[in-house]
Amino acid sequence: MKLSHKKILVGICGGIATYKSADLVRKLKEQGADVRVVMSQSAKEFITPLTLQALSGYPVSDSLLDPSAEAAMGHIELARWADLVIIAPATANFIARLTAGMADELITTLCIATESPVAICPAMNQQMYVHAATQDNLNTLKQRDVHIWGPASGSQACGEVGPGRMLEPLDITALACDFFKASEYLPLQGKNVMITAGPTREAIDPVRFLSNHSSGKMGYAIAQAAQALGANVTLVSGPVALNTPTHVNRVDVDSAENMLESVLSDIKEQDIFIGCAAVADYKVEQVATDKIKKSAETMQLELTRNPDILATVANLKDKPFTVGFAAETSNVIEYAKGKLERKNLDMIAANDVAIQGQGFNADNNALHVIWTDGQQSLPTTSKTELAQQLLQLIIERMDHNENSH
Ligand code: PMT
Repeated sequence: MKLSHKKILVGICGGIATYKSADLVRKLKEQGADVRVVMSQSAKEFITPLTLQALSGYPVSDSLLDPSAEAAMGHIELARWADLVIIAPATANFIARLTAGMADELITTLCIATESPVAICPAMNQQMYVHAATQDNLNTLKQRDVHIWGPASGSQACGEVGPGRMLEPLDITALACDFFKASEYLPLQGKNVMITAGPTREAIDPVRFLSNHSSGKMGYAIAQAAQALGANVTLVSGPVALNTPTHVNRVDVDSAENMLESVLSDIKEQDIFIGCAAVADYKVEQVATDKIKKSAETMQLELTRNPDILATVANLKDKPFTVGFAAETSNVIEYAKGKLERKNLDMIAANDVAIQGQGFNADNNALHVIWTDGQQSLPTTSKTELAQQLLQLIIERMDHNENSH
């Protein structure tokens, strides 16, 4: 029984797929889960609380203020009780209300009040599902670490065909089993991981700077993946427009020198260092104190080399396992191998940033990962997926190094 001792709160919204929720409760219980059910007011139009009570073995909650619960705070108790909250079906209306943070009904309030993971199983008419409003809401929820399970595609109760069918109870149960299995896999527990991400900015004068197109997406994805594997993560970030991944310690920096200073202030505590930032190689020799006025037809900026943060870390006496990135536009593998050796790295992840749709400021990427006596290609996929694959390689290499000592 894969869900023994797991406490799962099933939230049911009002929609035709509600009939599947009863079976979901049964399937979760068959795997050993302790299941409690919360229903929205409209869900009760489709299925009676009595059915869910009989299947779960607990009274069904549907009211924000529950006089029978201790201190009349049923929603907080339930929010604390759950190891996982599954909303199935999750209607377009529920998704919109959760995105807006509305605590107007028990089912949305719980999702806001809980510190436990929340998974939602969308179910709605296919046109409603593909509507920009619903897609935007789902993307926002994803960024807030809400798990989106489904929907499936196929014929719908309304007679249309397309995406919007709630996943089958068996599939949702399998996802719940996988979820708990994955959350117990914490190979980086107790390890400190520092990641640099985003661009640096090198001032020209008080209003101008030199920088590059790094969005921070790759580095942030690695930070999130390392945290999910149990690491204490410090993310030293250049200026980007991204939300800080949950439970990650973010330190904001600006210039390369600024980044170096932050990195070195805590590097002794780190087990792994990953340099994903696109650090400017050069800075302006003389930063003007006043805004430079437009006068001559041409102007020259004298540039001087910035410190190499990655090489500095890799040459420390008790260096952490040090991973660099190489952003190349030609001879990708050859140049990356050169950087691996010259900078004394344990591993380097090379990306071809000349290929459209990957590298700088894209959602996808592909990496060629190289270490002293081996290499592996990680083909094009989302940066989220790639971050997990890269960390897996790092974990394997660190295990290998430990066992061979
Ligand atoms: O941020 P995104 O939009 O998601 O894009 C991701 C990315 C393309 C920026 C990322 O995948 C990447 O390739 N990061 C490294 C970019 C880079 O500066 O590459 P490089 O080949 O110039 O530098 C090699 C390594 O030295 C890098 O690890 C870099 O962080 C490090 N470096 C470089 C110069 C310097 N002064 N200090 C450094 O630490």
